[in-house]
Amino acid sequence: MYEKLFEPIHLGPTEIRNRIFNPPHGTTLGSRGLVSDELIAYHEARAKGGAGLIILEGMAFHPSFCFPSAYLNAGHDDIIPGLTKLKAACAAYDTAVFGQLFHAGRSVRSSHDGSRPQVYSASDTPDDRYRIVPVAMPIEVIFEIIESYASAGRRLVEAGLDGVEILASQGYLMGQFLNPAVNRRDDEFGGSLENRMRFLVETLAHTRRAIGSEKTLGVRITLDEQTGAGVAKEETVKICQVLEQDGHLDYFSVISGSSASHNGWIHVFPPMAIPPAYVADDAATLKAKVTKPVLVAGRINQAQSAAEILNQGQADMVGLVRALIADPEFPNKVAQNRVDEIRACIGCNQACVGHRLSHHPISCIQNPITGRELEFRPHTDVTKQRVLVIGGGPGGMKAAATAAAQGHDVTLYEKEARLGGQVRLAEALPGRSEFGGVITNLSAELEKTAVEVCLSSTVDKRVLETLDPDAIIISTGAVARLPEAEVDGTDVLTAWAVISGEAQVGQHVAIADWSSDWTGLGVAHMLALAGHQVHLFSGTSSCAEAIPPLVRDQWMGELYRLNVDTTCYARFFGAQDNTAFFQHTITGDAIVFEGVDTIVSCYPPRANDDAAWLADLSNGRDSPFVIKTIGDALAPRTVEEAVLEGFKAARTIGKLDGQFEGG
Ligand SMILES: Cc1cc2nc3c(=O)[nH]c(=O)nc-3n(C[C@H](O)[C@H](O)[C@H](O)COP(=O)(O)OP(=O)(O)OC[C@H]3O[C@@H](n4cnc5c(N)ncnc54)[C@H](O)[C@@H]3O)c2cc1C
Ligand SMILES: Cc1cc2nc3c(=O)[nH]c(=O)nc-3n(C[C@H](O)[C@H](O)[C@H](O)COP(=O)(O)O)c2cc1C
Ligand code: SF4
Repeated sequence: MYEKLFEPIHLGPTEIRNRIFNPPHGTTLGSRGLVSDELIAYHEARAKGGAGLIILEGMAFHPSFCFPSAYLNAGHDDIIPGLTKLKAACAAYDTAVFGQLFHAGRSVRSSHDGSRPQVYSASDTPDDRYRIVPVAMPIEVIFEIIESYASAGRRLVEAGLDGVEILASQGYLMGQFLNPAVNRRDDEFGGSLENRMRFLVETLAHTRRAIGSEKTLGVRITLDEQTGAGVAKEETVKICQVLEQDGHLDYFSVISGSSASHNGWIHVFPPMAIPPAYVADDAATLKAKVTKPVLVAGRINQAQSAAEILNQGQADMVGLVRALIADPEFPNKVAQNRVDEIRACIGCNQACVGHRLSHHPISCIQNPITGRELEFRPHTDVTKQRVLVIGGGPGGMKAAATAAAQGHDVTLYEKEARLGGQVRLAEALPGRSEFGGVITNLSAELEKTAVEVCLSSTVDKRVLETLDPDAIIISTGAVARLPEAEVDGTDVLTAWAVISGEAQVGQHVAIADWSSDWTGLGVAHMLALAGHQVHLFSGTSSCAEAIPPLVRDQWMGELYRLNVDTTCYARFFGAQDNTAFFQHTITGDAIVFEGVDTIVSCYPPRANDDAAWLADLSNGRDSPFVIKTIGDALAPRTVEEAVLEGFKAARTIGKLDGQFEGG
């Protein structure tokens, strides 16, 4: 079923060796607008992994789009040498490289000096997310930007890239001109469809002239902005037909969503709540109406669905962004019949989108090498050791698999009957079952090794003597705890007890959410679905402040529909009989909530000190082993840190010149 994935295809003049492409995505690996060695190593890994085409992240190119310095800037010739190096690194694996040109228009939040930026759009219509009033772009700036697209395109091909893509979607500048709800102009760039298209049409014509006919020119377009106020699908199809007739374009790349609103934004980085491969229908709609190749992306995270899109003729190429962030070897694994070994992306949006939005280099909670390709090159100078890992949550599993892959003799002890740790609770939350993929993927990694896994087992002195380890990794995770509060006559339960089904919950529930993460929203969702009346009290200024914003946005929409009430700035104080007391975190005023049957506490867990006796042993001067504590056992955080620390600790075991890295 996978054959079609590996058929070559022409996108205009460029032949691509297979149908798998890596769509543009900001990595925050650039430096002062330029290509860094880290960015080259990042893309080289994806080329080596078998992607036929990489389209580099949206590059800024005109001063009217103020971009952070870790973005790429194609507005200057300085970009050329770095791009040339990047292209050469990918060409070694026969991977074509295009570059995307990106202007956000009004979708800009920051400026270089911290003042609120002055941004341009088609007119002065503000959006729902950035909340900045744009200035209608003067006509001379439009012409200047058209020329800048063309000069930036020229730089990309001068650097040796195979093609240029214009981002005309997701509610960014070109999308703002196309959209009649945003474009209120009455000059030749507004009003009729022909006028609203003019900016894009002229840009494509000028860019084609600048890059010549030997290079590919494509456009990325949204058929469904998912905002309720976007360009109608039929109109977008019509736009594409006109663009095709103009004869400058070689392909269309279809995507969903818009940066302009909270509901549209969810689809720019669709989280796990959005079904896999869901944009394929839009691609098929367009493909039926145009003759140029149609590319598609959006939650394609499985080889089966990727192949199905091609086999059903819905699109000509399938785009994998997060799937390749999680596993750059995805294409090779499919080609080599190793589909079961693919580390599937679970759509959590944490270390990829989350890092990007906080201006950090992207990574993956499941794959700590992503974004750190230079830091984590494979070791060769390792002496074989006996390694004991205590605790089989994500941190311990990653540590065990990594140590075994390095050639060590590894035993993993897990006190429960199955592996997974807290992820077993996380995956039980409504709409979050895919999070369990972390454990499925790590189990597949473990199965490839000779790690001896001892379930329902703990380590005592006798076990220690028998195993006689050289190194011990403690990954015993965390234990739930309740806040210190005065409680009398009301049940206060930990969220863990409620999610696992251990505890009975009354009809009227107050959730006391200190953590402001997945647990509070998840337990509220779970109980509301089960028919409870739920009020979520959050200690932060908005609910679930600690999770990636668009995961939160999607989830808050669900809770609203289920009539979950929310109060922010509320610290749990105590309870008496059927009344819960909170304190406003700013004013200190009491918030009294009457008629409550059960209080569910989302107070942060405590690091599990089950294995502290080992640390005491190893502190002795003649300790027979080295010891490292990682993940939640060190300090309760998330899967990302547990996996990263497990990986780092295991990597340095038996390294001749190395110290034992960890948390
Ligand atoms: C409801 C919920 C939702 C969450 N959602 C997310 C999310 O969406 N994203 C995210 O990144 N994080 C989430 N987390 C947090 C995340 O699951 C943890 O941070 C992560 O699992 C920590 O991994 P770990 O390996 O360090 O510890 P754990 O997952 O706690 O695993 C520790 C393991 O050690 C075992 N163990 C303990 N003592 C011993 C012993 N003496 N001997 C042998 N074995 C022992 C335990 O049984 C357990 O299997 C969530 C947590 C919860 C509770
Ligand atoms: C971290 C990150 C940055 C992104 N930056 C861009 C970008 O610069 N230009 C663009 O067109 N799309 C960008 N996207 C959207 C992706 O190209 C893609 O459409 C989206 O991630 C859905 O595909 P996926 O499910 O395969 O990840 C970005 C996505 C991610 C995860
Ligand atoms: S962090 Fe989550 S969403 Fe991002 S690539 Fe990894 S698994 Fe996928």
